[in-house]
Amino acid sequence: MRLIYAIPAVLAIAFSAAPAVAQDANTARSLAATCTTCHGADGISVGGVPPSLAGQNKDFLLQQLNDFKSGKRPATIMHQHARGYTDAQLAAIAGYFAAVKPGAAQSAPRAGN
Ligand code: HEC
Repeated sequence: MRLIYAIPAVLAIAFSAAPAVAQDANTARSLAATCTTCHGADGISVGGVPPSLAGQNKDFLLQQLNDFKSGKRPATIMHQHARGYTDAQLAAIAGYFAAVKPGAAQSAPRAGN
């Protein structure tokens, strides 16, 4: 009898965990989308300026972001940008870009013909 009551509880835990993980991945991707304007789609920059983020080491990315935030690393724009995020958000963003396969940089599509 007790086992029967336990089954729905186990199932509830198992199924509730999956959306939580998906939610985190979506949040990280949304946060990372703010960076792609400059760093290229999925963090693969055109011509390497500013540097590509895709496939870089997560700890390296996070260290750069923290250094921009604290002012330790001089920057033209990144110090302002990094200050807009919490430490947890920066870690999620660094994790997102570290997981992207760098691939070949794509040139911007040509306008017109
Ligand atoms: C307005 C354009 C712009 C946006 C938006 C932007 N960046 Fe940058 N990023 C730069 C520039 C320019 C540099 C070179 C440092 C500087 O001068 O600020 C840079 C440098 C970096 C570096 C150092 C890379 C290296 O290899 O040394 C990291 C890491 C970085 N950006 C991460 C991010 C992340 C993460 C976001 C989104 C939260 C972001 N950037 C959004 C322009 C931008």
